[in-house]
Amino acid sequence: MRIIIVGGSGTIGKKLSEEFSKRHEVIIAGRNSGSLHVDITSPESIEKFYQQAGPFDALVSAAGGGHVGPLKTMTDTDFRKGVDSKLMGQINLVLIGQRYINPKGSFTLTSGILSEDPIAAGANLSSVNSAVNGFVLSAAMELENSVRINVVSPGVVEDSPQLFPFFPGHTPVSMKQVVRGYIKSVEGAVNGQIIKAH
Ligand SMILES: NC(=O)c1ccc[n+]([C@@H]2O[C@H](COP(=O)([O-])OP(=O)(O)OC[C@H]3O[C@@H](n4cnc5c(N)ncnc54)[C@H](OP(=O)(O)O)[C@@H]3O)[C@@H](O)[C@H]2O)c1
Repeated sequence: MRIIIVGGSGTIGKKLSEEFSKRHEVIIAGRNSGSLHVDITSPESIEKFYQQAGPFDALVSAAGGGHVGPLKTMTDTDFRKGVDSKLMGQINLVLIGQRYINPKGSFTLTSGILSEDPIAAGANLSSVNSAVNGFVLSAAMELENSVRINVVSPGVVEDSPQLFPFFPGHTPVSMKQVVRGYIKSVEGAVNGQIIKAH
C-alpha cells in the first residue's frame, strides 16, 4: 500500500512511520517535517498537498493540537485553536481527500481519551476529540468506493512524559498498543470504529 502519514515525524507518527515502512511505501507529511508539507488548518494547503501526493491507499493523521488551559480564562480564540487544528484540520483531510484516495482505501484519524475521561484544563480537547469521533461514526456510512474510515483514541502515551502531570491517576499506554490501533484500522477491515488504545 501507499500510505501517507500526516504528522509522521511526531511522537506517535514516527512510530507509525517505522512500523508501516516495514510492509508498505510510506510518505511522511507535516507542517515543516517530512517529504510533503501541509498545514491542516488551511483547506487550500490540503488541496495542494493531495495534488502533489498522487494516488494513495491510506491516509493516517497523527496531527493536530488544541488549547490546554483553565475554563475560567478560556476565550473564543483559545477554543478555536482545537477547532481549526485537530477538528477541522482532520475533517478537511477527509472532505478533500475523498476525491483523491484510491478505491478501497482508508482514512485513520486521531482523537484521544479526553472525550470520555476528562482532565482539568482540557475542555477544548475533550470537545474536539468527541467531535472527531462523531464525524467518523457518520462519515463511514457515506464514503464511496468502499473507502473506510476509523479513529484511534489513545490514552496518554508512555513516550510523552511531559504530559503526565496533566493526567493525574491515568495509566500511560504503551506505544505498541497505540501503534496496534492504527494497524487495525489500516490493514484490517473495520469501518466506522473508535479504536480505543487505553
Ligand atoms: N502524545 C500523547 O500522549 C497523545 C495522547 C492522546 C492523543 N494524542 C493525539 O495524537 C496526535 C499526535 O500527538 P503527538 O504527541 O504525536 O504530537 P507531536 O509529537 O506534537 O507531533 C505532531 C505532528 O503533527 C504535525 N503537525 C502539527 N500541526 C500540524 C498542522 N497544522 N499541519 C500539519 N501537520 C501538523 C507536526 O509536524 P511539524 O513538526 O512539521 O509541524 C508533527 O509531526 C495529536 O492529535 C494528539 O492530540 C496524543
